[in-house]
Amino acid sequence: MDLAVTSRHTRQAAGPPTGDEAARRGRFAGPALPRSGPGTGGPLVPDLSLRPLAGSDLPSIAAMWERCTPATRMSRFHAPVRDIPASYLKAALADPAASVVAAPERTGVVVAVASLIRSASDSTAELGVLVQDAWQRRGIGHRLVGHLITAAPARGIAVVTAAVLTQNATVADLLRQVPGEFSLAIDGPALNVQVRLASAGPRP
Ligand SMILES: CC(C)(COP(=O)(O)OP(=O)(O)OC[C@H]1O[C@@H](n2cnc3c(N)ncnc32)[C@H](O)[C@@H]1OP(=O)(O)O)[C@@H](O)C(=O)NCCC(=O)NCCS
Repeated sequence: MDLAVTSRHTRQAAGPPTGDEAARRGRFAGPALPRSGPGTGGPLVPDLSLRPLAGSDLPSIAAMWERCTPATRMSRFHAPVRDIPASYLKAALADPAASVVAAPERTGVVVAVASLIRSASDSTAELGVLVQDAWQRRGIGHRLVGHLITAAPARGIAVVTAAVLTQNATVADLLRQVPGEFSLAIDGPALNVQVRLASAGPRP
């Protein structure tokens, strides 16, 4: 149950970039944090290849999952799950536009997967992002979120939601930078984040 709406504001479309511009920059505009050392930051990944998740990626996704720490797995699914939930993979594979994997071109090894999976009933979709620990804080999460948000209006998505653990609000911070109407609510150990996309136009 939502306990409190802790903030709500409207961000104008003149805010930080999404999509192509974000991809060109490799990240949204924002304060730079120190980036040094694997897993705690490093250089941005200029040769990152993004493509839709395909069934043939499942072994690579499973291998990536094995390389992730328990903390990262817990942050993604909010439970100590042994494997990536099959229900999630099924939903992510159901629509090629709903998910994206990232791999550095020089290795082709999948290091991240993200999805924007719409609910059956309306124009709302849930964002989920997972970047392998050793590749975190190198702009990959930023690229994946920008990619999915840019494609959202053409998919009929007007509202993006995400559930993040309160101690790991990076994705909430990323969504706060997306032009639109941002709100968040505390729900136990999680923050439920919502953005009504400015690019989707006015409310019906
Ligand atoms: C959250 C997650 C997707 C971020 O991916 P990432 O590739 O590390 O993120 P980026 O390098 O693009 O950084 C995005 C922003 O978050 C900041 N950031 C990333 N990791 C951070 C950390 N551990 N501490 C503080 N800030 C962090 C970056 O500095 C950047 O901010 P900026 O744009 O203002 O400079 C990744 O850490 C992850 O997979 N976590 C586990 C799964 C999860 O929590 N998913 C979210 C719930 S669905």
